[in-house]
Amino acid sequence: MRQEPNVKQDSDSQSLDTSHQTQEIYTLARADAYIRENQQQVNPTYRMAYHLMPEVGWMNDPNGFVYYNGMYHMFYQHYPYAPVWGPMHWGHAISYDLITWSYLPVALAPDQSYDSGGCFSGSAIVQGSKLLLMYTGHVVTGPDKDNDYRQTQNIAVSDNGIEFVKSTLNPVIRLDQIPEHTSPKDFRDPKVFERNGIYYCVLGSNDTAGHGLILLYRSTNLEEWSYVNVLAQSDGTLGDNWECPDLFSLGGRDILIMSPQRMPSQKDNYRNLHSTVYMIGTLDEKRGVLEYDQYHPLDYGFDFYAPQTTDDEQGRRIMVAWMETWETDIPTQHGHEWAGAMTLPRQIVLKGERLFFLPIPELEQYRSDKIEQHDIHLNGSLDLGMQGERYELYAVFEAGSAEQFGLKLRTGEEEETILIYEVEQRRLLLNRDRAGAGPGGERAAEVELQDGRLELRIFVDVSSVEVFIQGGEKVMTARIYPGPESTGISACSSGECTLLEVRKWDLKV
Ligand code: FRU
Repeated sequence: MRQEPNVKQDSDSQSLDTSHQTQEIYTLARADAYIRENQQQVNPTYRMAYHLMPEVGWMNDPNGFVYYNGMYHMFYQHYPYAPVWGPMHWGHAISYDLITWSYLPVALAPDQSYDSGGCFSGSAIVQGSKLLLMYTGHVVTGPDKDNDYRQTQNIAVSDNGIEFVKSTLNPVIRLDQIPEHTSPKDFRDPKVFERNGIYYCVLGSNDTAGHGLILLYRSTNLEEWSYVNVLAQSDGTLGDNWECPDLFSLGGRDILIMSPQRMPSQKDNYRNLHSTVYMIGTLDEKRGVLEYDQYHPLDYGFDFYAPQTTDDEQGRRIMVAWMETWETDIPTQHGHEWAGAMTLPRQIVLKGERLFFLPIPELEQYRSDKIEQHDIHLNGSLDLGMQGERYELYAVFEAGSAEQFGLKLRTGEEEETILIYEVEQRRLLLNRDRAGAGPGGERAAEVELQDGRLELRIFVDVSSVEVFIQGGEKVMTARIYPGPESTGISACSSGECTLLEVRKWDLKV
């Protein structure tokens, strides 16, 4: 049984990691054969029904999320050989509806001198009939692999969206193109996009003095790149290194999302070690600067990192994130042979100066066995007589004179995941102290009642819960690991309130 914690390390029993050069040979063929032969080893206990997971082994960031040739493609940071982070490959899955995924062969393996330590995160862009991936090549350059490394940007191209050929021009953004006063080694996660016939790419980095930042590059052909500017930089409150940037326009505005490392918490917000934020502003393409006033969290739960977006044929902007975070215990790392999953795809909608996040309508076709109840008077605890491990729950509360009210999910003899709204404090709490295996804790989101009401749309999938609050104004995401017997759903309050309606559907794909 493997007990390695969820940290980035070259820890793999198969890796002869005695020198700084990894001795191990990683190829696509070896990865695919390993997956084929070992996917049956995965313990089904915490496997999910309608979320994307690795077939076996480890998954982190979504990569290369794109709509190409009538299908959604999702690539992901993948180490097939163990449920721990290791030299990164790009796993690959496709979907017609973003809910049911089919796995394709591994798309990238760390098999070149410029990516021998891993094919780190990146993105995809459709170029004519071709699909191009742009990713970070990670190379270990000394004995201390946590500090001795270099990163460059590379491309790989495909005619069919399945097999990718790494360019002979790699690296296409080299070490000598890193500007002065930015980190010579943290230089990663290219997100490529096109505007007015010019390609741009944003990259995560820092100023070597504790401030995360984003670098902007431009190109006319995706092969020759030139540095433009520091697009945005931490004002001191936003962490010491920025990862996984994404820049896109929505409703006439320019939106930057990214994942700041070690961002200090601000009251209830940014309570995880590493966070995710968005800024709404204006990209000055000539200067290469994003002008913005404020930033906000993307999610208020525990497990949400490195989100990436794509647009699609319907003109929607869809976001998916890694439904985990670094440096926490993941129960499936111990004897289950898999770890990591993606969140549900969320449509991003701009409303005024805020983003809203909506579960995509495609989910609705998987609903079955609807149960509903109306106008339940609550004063204390009430078992709703509904049960499940994989479901959608829609609930509307009217606060009445209650001090607090909410729901308990995945309840069993010893277990419960609690969602409680505190009326006076105007905050919704998600507590997983008694949720089951794995880390506990509580997170909070500031939420205003609307006409005295709280509306929740909740997705539970065996080992996850995602709570969309007040029509997608805020979302709380968490992994939870209750026992299979903990399937109850109850409502609770202190003081009198009304559960105006509660609807539950099973979700099966
Ligand atoms: C974010 C990240 C990226 C990096 C990748 C490596 O979770 O740290 O910055 O490219 O993971 O797997």
